[in-house]
Amino acid sequence: MPLEEQHDCFHPICSLAELQQHGRIVRTIEDRPILVLWTDDGVVALDPQCPHQHVHSLDRGTVACGEITCPNHGWTFSLRTGRARIGSGRIRLFAVRINDGTVEVALPEHQPRWMQS
Ligand code: FES
Repeated sequence: MPLEEQHDCFHPICSLAELQQHGRIVRTIEDRPILVLWTDDGVVALDPQCPHQHVHSLDRGTVACGEITCPNHGWTFSLRTGRARIGSGRIRLFAVRINDGTVEVALPEHQPRWMQS
């Protein structure tokens, strides 16, 4: 199942035009920082926390060739799979969609399953 079909609750982040103008935007949704990028492959949303030292550094990362590189020590992650090409671990990617010109991001539920019904 495609990632964007697994979530019902999408949160508006910004307009697509604003994202295209700035290239990247950081927003906080439900106390969670979200980094949204405009890339050659379209819109990508991720947690800006680098798995190396668990600091929010990827919002200052370099984006090229479908990857993001942390400015601190150069760990590099695929923006398609989240997996590290340099370093180890993976970044967390979020489902994203464009709805009537607005970039929307879906976050995983915080509640345990028994509380969701
Ligand atoms: S903190 Fe990101 S590579 Fe070290």
